[in-house]
Amino acid sequence: MGLLDGKVAIVTGAGRGIGRAEALLLAAEGAKVVVNDVGASLAGQGGDKHPAEEVVDLIKEGGSDAVVNASDVSSWSGAKDLVDQAIDTFGSLDVLVNNAGILRDKMSFNMEESDWDDVIRVHLKGHFAMSHHAAVYWRGRAKAGEDVHGRIINTSSEAGLFGNAGQANYSAAKAGIASMTWVLARELERYGVTVNSISPRARTRMTENLFGEMAAAGDGFDQWDPANVAQLVGFLASDEAADVTGQNFIVFGGNIWATGGFHPVGELHRDSMWSPSEIAAAKSELFKGISSGIPPFSFF
Ligand SMILES: NC(=O)c1ccc[n+]([C@@H]2O[C@H](COP(=O)([O-])OP(=O)(O)OC[C@H]3O[C@@H](n4cnc5c(N)ncnc54)[C@H](O)[C@@H]3O)[C@@H](O)[C@H]2O)c1
Repeated sequence: MGLLDGKVAIVTGAGRGIGRAEALLLAAEGAKVVVNDVGASLAGQGGDKHPAEEVVDLIKEGGSDAVVNASDVSSWSGAKDLVDQAIDTFGSLDVLVNNAGILRDKMSFNMEESDWDDVIRVHLKGHFAMSHHAAVYWRGRAKAGEDVHGRIINTSSEAGLFGNAGQANYSAAKAGIASMTWVLARELERYGVTVNSISPRARTRMTENLFGEMAAAGDGFDQWDPANVAQLVGFLASDEAADVTGQNFIVFGGNIWATGGFHPVGELHRDSMWSPSEIAAAKSELFKGISSGIPPFSFF
């Protein structure tokens, strides 16, 4: 008995890295999985189906069922094909894990237009296109009187929550995904769909240069293993998480942080308009006990 017996899941970008670990975990918990991957290089070029096929083989060896899908998630019609494939092949869709992504890191003054467009397209449009088509399906079922237990699990990043230098495109896309998670959660609650996002940290080709030796697997608990991240996704995909929605979790090793979104950290109040010079005079009150400079990258 798995936590996801009888469920049908899509994991995008599941040929490698975190998506691969998520697809394997969901299958190990009993879900049938559509393993999507366009087979792109880290920068988003190429089309190698092999990694996704290998994940499907592993899932089948483990006793669950899976199929490959090679859609580009940032294509509106490709995203629809992917949702349709899950329904046509396995009879329904219960869980959508939006994970696919690429990187084109450059400082803002060196970034090309295509670096901006491609990263925003794959992450932000890719998340939205998939969520849109899945939402159409779940809303239709709910309106037909069916009991829907839909799940969307998005992939944001600490780069999106805190803003990482050299990643204007990626951080903007990931902040957009975190914010879109709240919107989708509000819109889809009435149709029986929860929407959450994770901000993971794990050793993959995307982070091997960033974390380097720090992320090497040691002898003990491997906190950089993408499988650690997948466990949270397994929980969020399950019926046990029916009351968890609109949340963004930072997840790394054995640590899971529920984050609370943006909160005021200082304030000024009065019943009349402030002039710029009055705000200047009250600046120390607005920033009482806190810095007026760039907020720290991390909360811990
Ligand atoms: N690894 C980390 O520590 C980390 C940290 C924060 C966020 N993330 C996010 O986690 C997700 C997975 O990253 P990863 O580290 O496993 O990277 P990865 O490069 O190992 O895997 C990403 C996969 O997505 C696929 N892909 C790319 N564009 C696609 C498209 N248009 N359609 C379908 N598939 C596509 C790639 O072929 C690749 O297999 C990404 O959204 C990433 O931004 C990762």
